[in-house]
Amino acid sequence: LFSAVEMAPRDPILGLNEQFNADTNPNKVNLGVGVYFDDNGKLPLLQCVQAAEKALMDKPTARGYLPIDGIVAYDNAVKGLVFGADSEPVTSGRVATVQAIGGTGGLKIGADFLKKISPDAKVLISDPSWENHRALFTNAGFVVDTYAYYDADNRGVNFDGMLASLNAAAPGTIIVLHACCHNPTGYDITSAQWDQVVEVVKAKGLTAFLDMAYQGFGYGIAEDGAVIQKFVAAGLSFFVSTSFSKSFSLYGERVGGLSVLCDSKEEAGRVLSQLKIVIRTNYSNPPTHGGAVVAAVLGNPELRALWEKELGEMRVRIKAMRQTLVDGLKAAGVQQDMSFMTQQIGMFSYSGLSKDQMVRLRSEFGVYGTDTGRICVAALNSKNIDYVCQAIAKVIAG
Ligand code: LMR
Repeated sequence: LFSAVEMAPRDPILGLNEQFNADTNPNKVNLGVGVYFDDNGKLPLLQCVQAAEKALMDKPTARGYLPIDGIVAYDNAVKGLVFGADSEPVTSGRVATVQAIGGTGGLKIGADFLKKISPDAKVLISDPSWENHRALFTNAGFVVDTYAYYDADNRGVNFDGMLASLNAAAPGTIIVLHACCHNPTGYDITSAQWDQVVEVVKAKGLTAFLDMAYQGFGYGIAEDGAVIQKFVAAGLSFFVSTSFSKSFSLYGERVGGLSVLCDSKEEAGRVLSQLKIVIRTNYSNPPTHGGAVVAAVLGNPELRALWEKELGEMRVRIKAMRQTLVDGLKAAGVQQDMSFMTQQIGMFSYSGLSKDQMVRLRSEFGVYGTDTGRICVAALNSKNIDYVCQAIAKVIAG
């Protein structure tokens, strides 16, 4: 039965974790996967999460099946974060939201639903994009192509190229956009540029799918969500996937969501019924714990304020690490100007290092980043940064 089954390659991101765990180098540093560690190199367990978990444990409840679309309070909290609790889309009931197994789950539910309603549509992802976007939409049955995004020469976004790609897309094309903190480059487009993207999406009849895995890691919850308001104001129907892996440091709980903005409440009801079929036929219904924790935090004003504070601290520490990295590289003898790293936003820095240099970083120094040159700035700390800077300086020196 399995004699012809080929060995699949390791996952380009999570596969690095396997390699990292097997590495015996005592100085090893994992800058591969997008995970935030504190200044002691520890994965944080947020205080708001601990408080919510304690409250849940104080009143233990049996674990029945959740509704197919998840915990009602959770879905409402997701809607509030994405669109604003008092926003017209939410109050009019025209958002269909489901709890999903992480942000990836939200993307997959949306992709499977889109395949049913737009089977011949093409999907465009940014060039480059999160490694899993292409695989996920391809596995959902779509032909996946790219729109121009990264401008390596000028270290930024090739916005003219991006607009040209979108303008050239056929009506109905699904455009996967990073709502904030572009993964992997760390370069976002400006608010004015978003206005132009929204205009093209509308004029060309494209379908926007916003991946919002890092809300709160750029400038703040509301600030990072501002792009959603632009799509709402344009009167578009669109998709948004949400992840709480990073913002709640709940990676292993797999807590995310998918929201679909529809034309009316009645339409949202029909869309929701289809999303539920996708979920039911994949994994039946979502798990309880992570969703219950997030709903408890977001539904309690004090815990929510604590969450925003803790999220803000993560955001500020990452920004500080960017500057320390730039200074450290200079001190380690790197001649080229690396200050572009402070212009990037979110968890990642597209370092500009080649695949060969990334392989050397791994094999000679135990410093892990992706082959594309992406490093997770959120895993740097005051103890490992000198070592990382020395290692990078050595591979740059050749
Ligand atoms: C990443 O890009 O490293 C994260 O989004 C984690 C993942 O699932 O790939």
